[in-house]
Amino acid sequence: GLTTAGALARRPPRTGDELRSEVPLPPPFEVPLPLPPVLKPVSTAGGVDRYEITQRETSAEILPGVRTPLWTYEGTFPGPTIESRRGRPVTVTHRNELPVPTVVHLHGGRTPASSDGYPTDLVLPEKWHEPVSMHGMHGMGGNMRDPRAVVTRRIRDYTFPLDQRPTLLWYHDHRMDFTAPAIWRGLAGLHLVRDAAEEALGLPSGRRELPLMIADRAFTADGSLRYPALDRDLRTRPGVEEPYAAGVLGDVILVNGAPWPVHEVDAARYRLRVLNASNARHYDLEAVLDDGRRLDLVQVGADQGLLASPVVHRNLPIAPAERYDVVLDFARVPVGGRVRIVNRLGSGRTRDVMAFRVARRAADDSRVPRVLSRDLPSWRRSDAVRTREFSFRAGRMDGGHGWLIDGRPFDPSRTDVTTRLGDTEVWRLVADVHHPVHLHMVGFRVLSRGGRPPLPHDAGLKDTISLRPGEAAEIITRFDGYRGRFLFHCHNAEHEDMGMMANLEVT
Ligand code: C2O
Ligand code: CU
Repeated sequence: GLTTAGALARRPPRTGDELRSEVPLPPPFEVPLPLPPVLKPVSTAGGVDRYEITQRETSAEILPGVRTPLWTYEGTFPGPTIESRRGRPVTVTHRNELPVPTVVHLHGGRTPASSDGYPTDLVLPEKWHEPVSMHGMHGMGGNMRDPRAVVTRRIRDYTFPLDQRPTLLWYHDHRMDFTAPAIWRGLAGLHLVRDAAEEALGLPSGRRELPLMIADRAFTADGSLRYPALDRDLRTRPGVEEPYAAGVLGDVILVNGAPWPVHEVDAARYRLRVLNASNARHYDLEAVLDDGRRLDLVQVGADQGLLASPVVHRNLPIAPAERYDVVLDFARVPVGGRVRIVNRLGSGRTRDVMAFRVARRAADDSRVPRVLSRDLPSWRRSDAVRTREFSFRAGRMDGGHGWLIDGRPFDPSRTDVTTRLGDTEVWRLVADVHHPVHLHMVGFRVLSRGGRPPLPHDAGLKDTISLRPGEAAEIITRFDGYRGRFLFHCHNAEHEDMGMMANLEVT
């Protein structure tokens, strides 16, 4: 039967529901940390960088000696990284050679609606002759009330103006009802936006700047990724399995696609661009030396770019889809010493994330200035022209179990919120269990949590806020950018697929 929201809220975090791998797992800190390849533009003419990405099936050796079939962007997991300059537009042509329709969304991008990857704006596979099913896991009986909402193309150009603060964005699949299994199978990649002002700060750079995409997975006996339903069309599933309720958790922690990797570093500062690309797993990261001491995590940026000034953390919680820009200084670690990145929320093998091995002394001319940026929006409560409230709770839908916003599952033909371009609003978000809530198109600031000031890791401009069980948080944003239909949703990818998403119309 259905668990009430109240009962869910009283439960401890659901870390016990993780899927177990059926293959032998490698010891931690032996596989070298891979760095995703940086994609080369096919043209840079006319002030636009043009890229081409083919979405295709492949297999890769994620666990030593085991082949794992994947869905990929350009044959790698993570997909290739795109590196852009602020305000310089990028066009990415996506070609779909996968067996299913897909949708590409640039998470954190300030993107016009036409390129934002609406969940029914599909890139069809080249050889696709069936009618498009929009009956996913939460639909069962059909969530698509208006089939005219489906747009299909065979090849899709996405254009991103990138007229926004420099930061780490990521691109991932966003098809209605099928986002979680598609990301799980490998459809995720990084997109860095840079500018001269940030480069002038002198933060660690070059090989001392590392993107770290953290994601958990589980593996079946034949090396495939294990997921509650890996059939192509989830219509055939008899019911919602329990792991779906909390979101799918794996027992293997991957960083940049490698299990518990190790990276050799100089005894110097490193800038870590951390993304939690897990479907549902939360981490609380700390950097632990061999003797048990911890290194400070010096946060310089949030989801939407640099903080006003650095914030020092002993440990840093990171929810699905959040990014943290963190400087770690290995200068005082003895050569040969090791720094483990540990997840305080994990147990057994999921406590380990990755390790750094300090290989040599080295000169370091990087710095972490006390003032990082002066262009953070400083919206005040009194700027808001309205306040809205939304609840994020479990509930019953279509005879099954779903995750709902204000009691309703996602419906692409319904407008949930209408606002005017340029309006400033305060949103009060209330959660039953953990829900990382994400708004498309805009960045926001956290005003309060549980009636108290924001937490240290809420600093800066965010696009995803980690709501805690039973908590109400307030955010403030200004809807500037573009008119059109955008989304807000829970970024627990299974919750999103099970209905926890809504439409926001900017007029
Ligand atoms: Cu990262 Cu609507 O998504
Ligand atoms: Cu959720």
